[in-house]
Amino acid sequence: MKLIAAKDYAGLSRKAANIISAQVIMKPSAVLGLATGSTPLGAYRQLIDWHQKGDVDFSRAVSVNLDEYLGLSGAQEQSYRYFMDQNFFSHINIRRECTFVPDGLAGDPQAECARYNQIIRGLGGIDLQLLGIGGNGHIGFNEPGAAFEKETHLVELTESTRRSNARFFQSPDQVPTHAITMGIRSIMQAKKILLLASGENKASALWNSFFGPVTPGVPASILQLHNDCTVIADEPALSLIRKNTGWEDMVYDN
Ligand code: F6R
Repeated sequence: MKLIAAKDYAGLSRKAANIISAQVIMKPSAVLGLATGSTPLGAYRQLIDWHQKGDVDFSRAVSVNLDEYLGLSGAQEQSYRYFMDQNFFSHINIRRECTFVPDGLAGDPQAECARYNQIIRGLGGIDLQLLGIGGNGHIGFNEPGAAFEKETHLVELTESTRRSNARFFQSPDQVPTHAITMGIRSIMQAKKILLLASGENKASALWNSFFGPVTPGVPASILQLHNDCTVIADEPALSLIRKNTGWEDMVYDN
């Protein structure tokens, strides 16, 4: 794992956008695994800016998103499809038919998971998977205790995840109870992984994930075993790592 320190969220976003645009420049038909949530928004904004200045071209790129709520259509504001369209896809020149998000309205969710796995396989796998991290170490909707060996699957959301995502809905009971998520195995099969962490509320998840034991109790800890994983974190998110290891540099490579 390579850990890169960023002074603040703006620095983190710029460094992340650099890695993503380098991927697309080196391989224009790159398959990008993308995430929703607050953390990648700054990187998406930076990529949009560079795209609009003519520096990065997404016309041959393909994207596969990590997850989607079950029961929401892509037209609903809380869906991850809507989030991606609004915050990224509609501002760049990626072809819409090359942006994949699990179908939250699939009548047969299990069949949708199988279809999604087939899509990823058919694309030849993911070149670069972008990840955020939950305060409890979750990645995608893989909560603590999730099996490491799963590909895309249906999950029942925990009460704590539903509570923390309730801020995006009018009332807590509108938060879907289930979601479709890429599993840890799908994530681990990506050729490169880029995980972003910003803010003090991610400090213990980052410490436990990258400096503790590899355990399903901390889903992101499996990333210690990935052979091309880069983590970019801002100083508040790094606070526990700095304190517990005495590490002072900007890049940590193990
Ligand atoms: C998003 C996702 C989640 C988030 C995580 C962090 O597609 O799968 O695992 O990456 O919950 O969310 P933020 O960035 O909002 O703190």
